[in-house]
Amino acid sequence: MVKFSTTGTEATMYAIRFARAFTGRDKLLKFEGCFHGGHDAVLVNVKPARAKSGDPKRPNQVPASLGIPRSVVQNTVVAPFNDIEALDCIMRKHGDEVGAIILEPIPMNMGYVQPTPGFIEAVRRTADNYSSVLIFDEIKTCGKFYGGAQDHFKIKADLITMGKAIGGGLPISAIGGRKQIMETVVPGLVSHAGTFNSNPLSVTAGIVTLTEILTKNRMYEITACSEKLAKAYNEIIEDVNLIAKVTWGGTSGAVAFTGHDVVNWRTFQDCDIGKWYAYCFAMMNRGVIPAGPSPDEQWTVSAQHEPEDIDAHVEAFKEVAPYVRKCENKAPIVEAI
Ligand SMILES: Cc1ncc(COP(=O)(O)O)c(C=O)c1O
Repeated sequence: MVKFSTTGTEATMYAIRFARAFTGRDKLLKFEGCFHGGHDAVLVNVKPARAKSGDPKRPNQVPASLGIPRSVVQNTVVAPFNDIEALDCIMRKHGDEVGAIILEPIPMNMGYVQPTPGFIEAVRRTADNYSSVLIFDEIKTCGKFYGGAQDHFKIKADLITMGKAIGGGLPISAIGGRKQIMETVVPGLVSHAGTFNSNPLSVTAGIVTLTEILTKNRMYEITACSEKLAKAYNEIIEDVNLIAKVTWGGTSGAVAFTGHDVVNWRTFQDCDIGKWYAYCFAMMNRGVIPAGPSPDEQWTVSAQHEPEDIDAHVEAFKEVAPYVRKCENKAPIVEAI
């Protein structure tokens, strides 16, 4: 069953509320480095500085903004992504109080982080073991694969949130999931209120987007373009001896300037941010916006792109890669969300 709202922030806020109401528990578990919007409960350990975040296996709870009550932060338990042992340990301590586990199945607010084999399955198992509601925040992933991350990984969450691409540019988000949970959302019991919820303009744009633009065929075609782009990046990186890692899947991917795999927030912090900005501006100077203009973003091949656009991107990167290799430009990661 599905309910519609307007933004991704509302979708994750409601999904968490539905999960808390369903389980009768207050705590939420999120993963460090994942972004789920601008409401208080999820603005914890989004991009925490090393000086504050403590033990990588047992992160301190670090608010990502002033103005978030301590009592809210205390209810958001944080685990490192891609670390099953740490998740087990944290859930052994808090699991009986955790109403919801929320994650971006592919974290895309620290580049493009692939879950390591077995990780998503382990999160699913953990949620089951503690009777917590598993929420896939698919605000980004829903537009990267036809059928989203659930279909890509063949693993079902209890609730999913969608937004961004499904509206084709109009504001819409969706919260969907198991009937047993969604049926409890009724006025007077569990609130899902909003002036623009299910407004006909956004819903119509969503229907057109999903039936005429992001069709199965078109998604396969643009995924092939994304694969071609990732392969070309890897070849160029090898040719010029650049220290960098490329990750991709579906219509998106990213390059990170580091010698180690980026598997979570702490490994993302080891990336050379100065080189990333040098790369981004040098690409833009050649007429190509290579990704969202921040190192925590990624490329997306859209339904508007054609193979020639990929060729132009690759040609620009051939020129830019040797320059990035030489470039020394220290820049910090700033927690600006
Ligand atoms: C994974 C994820 N969840 C939630 C949100 C919040 O969506 P919105 O900006 O529409 O509130 C974002 C926004 O970037 C996101 O990337």
